[in-house]
Amino acid sequence: MPVNLLNNYQGLLNPINNFLLCKTPDLWIEQASDPCNLSLLLTDHLHCELKAAQSAGLLLRRYVVDEATAQQILQWLEPYETRVYRGHLLATENETNTQLSGKNKQAPKLELAQSEPWQDELLSKMVLLMKEELHHFDQVFTIMEANNIELQPTTAARYAAGMLRHIRGSEVGGLVDKLIIGGIIEARSCERFAALVPHLPESVARFYVSLLRSEARHFEDYLSLAELVAGEEDIAPRVQMFLGIEQNLIESPDKVLRFHSGPVA
Ligand SMILES: [Fe+2]
Ligand SMILES: [Fe+2]
Repeated sequence: MPVNLLNNYQGLLNPINNFLLCKTPDLWIEQASDPCNLSLLLTDHLHCELKAAQSAGLLLRRYVVDEATAQQILQWLEPYETRVYRGHLLATENETNTQLSGKNKQAPKLELAQSEPWQDELLSKMVLLMKEELHHFDQVFTIMEANNIELQPTTAARYAAGMLRHIRGSEVGGLVDKLIIGGIIEARSCERFAALVPHLPESVARFYVSLLRSEARHFEDYLSLAELVAGEEDIAPRVQMFLGIEQNLIESPDKVLRFHSGPVA
């Protein structure tokens, strides 16, 4: 039980635990750390890392970059998407890769009426975040291979969609909400990595500890971006609203066990 692995991280975890409205329920920890569910947990975690990178890429494509850079972002993601959606054996089939990522290329880039002061900050933070999430993806993939876990298709948790359905329709309000949700997801990921550490095999536990620092920074980056984009608007009421929705998604019984699910009834 490598519980002492977390000793040096309390200063980093305290702001996250104070921010979220609830801790992960004990029942979820029990279910997720059951050795029978290790392959499910890591497979879903792999998908989460890809989704985190895709979400950051989508923000860049929609709110910041020109068409040529948008294409570069899609090409950056393409080999990872191919590995997840069709298995890594197809990674060299370029024609298939292009078809697979074709649906993402439909996402429209928003033409802003003018250059916004927050665009540079969004660009630098989201590019770094994408880089780190894709590195985490490779790390999860390596751990799965070491544990002889084959990549299986999996369905998405209700979690992110449960929050995203409440975003505002306005241009800036919608972006602020997406950034708040990004911060909440990063905070919960961090809280869950720490909650799982004492219950997982040591190699996976050590890996989860190694993720805490970057995920904690992602949480702060998303929230500071939300404040920056919001300008005069006080984001606190929106943050509290989304935290309340998140608490319900974490505490109420869920149909499937996932990295961000509630406990399965
Ligand atoms: Fe990550
Ligand atoms: Fe992250």
